Amino acid sequence: MIPAIAVRRLDKRFGATRILRGVDLMVEPHERHALIGPNGAGKSTLFNLIAGAARPSAGRIELYGADITRLAPAAICRRGLARSFQTTSFFAKLSVFDNLRCAAQIANRDRMRWWQRYTATREGDGHAEQVLEAVGLAERRDVIAGTLSYADQRALDLGLALASGAHTLLLDEPTAGMNRAEAARAVELIRTATAGRTLLMVEHDMDVVFGLADRISVLVQGEVIATGTPDAIRADPVVRAAYLGDIGDAAQGAAG
Ligand SMILES: Nc1ncnc2c1ncn2[C@@H]1O[C@H](COP(=O)(O)OP(=O)(O)O)[C@@H](O)[C@H]1O
Ligand SMILES: [Mg+2]
Repeated sequence: MIPAIAVRRLDKRFGATRILRGVDLMVEPHERHALIGPNGAGKSTLFNLIAGAARPSAGRIELYGADITRLAPAAICRRGLARSFQTTSFFAKLSVFDNLRCAAQIANRDRMRWWQRYTATREGDGHAEQVLEAVGLAERRDVIAGTLSYADQRALDLGLALASGAHTLLLDEPTAGMNRAEAARAVELIRTATAGRTLLMVEHDMDVVFGLADRISVLVQGEVIATGTPDAIRADPVVRAAYLGDIGDAAQGAAG
């Protein structure tokens, strides 16, 4: 099987410091894969490299078998990989629906011909309506995006990635800054919205990780020290010693 994302022997140096050290990571099509590890391990750096926001010092990145190592972010996005940013990425003065419609239209643009414009626009609107439902913002349809609560803004952010037609999503700490109830809602949203898609996410909340991920990779000091199912990761003595030891209770608690 061709992996959705294949990271091979990836290195990233900042000056003399080697931040990523020969990272190998395989994300299978349609799996939800969590990347965990201590602060400063290089998780966000790895996401930047996959999304094309930074260039690796060595190694290779493939999206469904195609080499994307040297592509610009927009080119990678057009190939169906979307990334949700911590910072807001929508138009604050447009309504929720208009934001989604814009994302859907931009996604359509490449496929469109001038004589198809009218149909394509209607298709884009239909798609935006579906996404609106999928991310639970139907009741916020005509609200100005900048006035949404933080949790709803994150939901819109996810919606924009879906509206762009992405088949592969990178989410960096999607529940950061949320309270328990908001985080629980975000998890359900991510679960339903990513069905049939591929998800790679960084997450610190072990309840979220162990509840959502099909597989987990553990990054410590720029190296992937383990990849496996939640049960295998929870039981892995190397992982416990290097990372989960600190937060073992959370990992344990998520089992129940
Ligand atoms: N642009 C940069 N220049 C220099 N060092 C950086 C840069 N970006 C990240 N780093 C360093 O790389 C290491 C990994 O950072 P990061 O990828 O953000 O870790 P994580 O997301 O796992 O917490 C940190 O030590 C950080 O200070
Ligand atoms: Mg980070």
